[in-house]
Amino acid sequence: MQAAPVQAIPATAPEPTAPAVPDQLGRPLRDLRLSVIDQCNFRCTYCMPKSRFGRDYPFLTPAQRLSDDELLRLVRAFVGLGVEKVRLTGGEPLLRKGIESLVERIAALRTGDGRQVEVAMTTNGSLLARKARALRDAGLGRVTVSLDSLDDGIFRAMNDVDFPVGRVLEGIEAACAAGLAPVKVNCVVERGTNDGQVLPLVEHFRGSGVTLRFIEYMDVEGPSGWSPSRVVPSDELRGRVGRAHALLPLARRAGDTASNFLLADGSLKLGFISSVSHPFCGDCTRARVSVDGRLHLCLFATRSVDLRQHLGAARPEQDLAEAIRQAWQARGDRYSELRAGLRAETLASGKRQYPTVRMSLVGG
Ligand code: GTP
Ligand code: 5AD
Ligand code: SF4
Ligand code: SF4
Repeated sequence: MQAAPVQAIPATAPEPTAPAVPDQLGRPLRDLRLSVIDQCNFRCTYCMPKSRFGRDYPFLTPAQRLSDDELLRLVRAFVGLGVEKVRLTGGEPLLRKGIESLVERIAALRTGDGRQVEVAMTTNGSLLARKARALRDAGLGRVTVSLDSLDDGIFRAMNDVDFPVGRVLEGIEAACAAGLAPVKVNCVVERGTNDGQVLPLVEHFRGSGVTLRFIEYMDVEGPSGWSPSRVVPSDELRGRVGRAHALLPLARRAGDTASNFLLADGSLKLGFISSVSHPFCGDCTRARVSVDGRLHLCLFATRSVDLRQHLGAARPEQDLAEAIRQAWQARGDRYSELRAGLRAETLASGKRQYPTVRMSLVGG
C-alpha cells in the first residue's frame, strides 16, 4: 500500500456547538450510530452465525425499514440536539439501495453554527472497491472496514460465505485512494481462531495511513459458545505487539471507543477496543437507532424507544426532538461496566444473567 505519514491526534475534541443534552450520568449526546439495514452478505461466526441467521431468518422487510426521508428527519432532530457525528452501520450498510444519495442528504446537513455534520460508515468492505469514489463524492467523510484476517482461509471461514480477503483489501485500498481518511480497519480477535493474525495485520498496514484496531470478542446474541477464555484481553495483545515494536500511547479523546498507540517509528496508529476488559461507558456519548425506528440508549440495552410514531410527514419535528431528548435525559445505561460482575454470577449459576444484543440490528 502507498506510504502515508501517521499523525498524532490532538488531545481535545473540537468545541461542541449545540448545548449538550446530558444523561443521568452527565454524558452528552454527541454521536448517532444509524443502522440503515439489518441484513448482511456475510455470516461472521461471532456476529451472525448461519445456525441462527439462516434463509428463513425474519429480517425486516423493506416496508418495515425507515425510508430515506424518515432517516433524514431523524438525523436532523439528532443534529438539533447536539449530535456532530453520524455513523452509518448495518448489517452491511452498502446493501441498502441508494445509500449514496442518503449519504449526500445527511452530509448536506449543518450544525447550529453552520458546520458540516461528520458522516462515517462501518462496512465489511465487500462492495467498497466499486463504491468508494461515489461515496466520497456524495460527502462520506471516512470509513471503517472490518477485517479479521489476512490469511484467506481464516478470513473465508470467519465470514462463512467463502468471501476472499483480496476483495476486502481492494476495498480498503480504494477507500484510501478516494480520500475516505483516516481509514480504520477493525479486527475482532477470537482466541484460537484469528489471534495469530494480529502481528501479520500490524506488518501489513505499516506505512499505509490506515488505523488498525483490535476489538475484544463480546458476548452478543446469536453466536453460541462465547466464553471469557475466547477473549484475548487488550493488555495481552498490546504486550504481543509491544514485543515486536515500541508503542507510544496517544491521548484519549472523550467518547473514544479505543485506546490508541503509535508505533514508535510513526508507521502505524493502533487502537485497542476493550469493551470486555476495560469498558468505556464513563463518557459514552453514543445513541443508536435501528432501521425499524427504535432508539437504543446502549449497545446492550434491553429496552428501546419507538421513534417511528413521531416520523410521519405531518408530525411536528419538535415532537420527535422532544422524545429523543427525554429518552436521553433518562439514560443511565452502562452495561459493559456492569457485565463483568454479572459474568461472574453467570459463571456461578450457569445461566446468562445479562442482556445480549443482535449486533446486526443495532449496528455494533
Ligand atoms: P470512530 O468514530 O472511528 O471512533 O468509530 P467507533 O469506534 O465509534 O465505531 P466502530 O463502528 O468502528 O466501532 C468499533 C466496534 O467497537 C463496534 O463494532 C463495537 O464492537 C465496539 N463498540 C463501538 N461502540 C461501542 C459502545 O458504545 N459500547 C461497546 N461496548 N462497544 C462498542
Ligand atoms: N464482538 C465484538 N464486536 C463485534 N461486532 C460484531 N459482533 C461482535 C462481537 N461478537 C462488531 C465488529 C464488526 C462490527 C460490524 O460489529 O466490530 O467490525
Ligand atoms: Fe460480519 Fe459485520 Fe455482517 Fe456482522 S454485520 S456478519 S460483523 S460483516
Ligand atoms: Fe456506551 Fe453501553 Fe457501550 Fe457502555 S456498553 S460504552 S454505555 S453503548
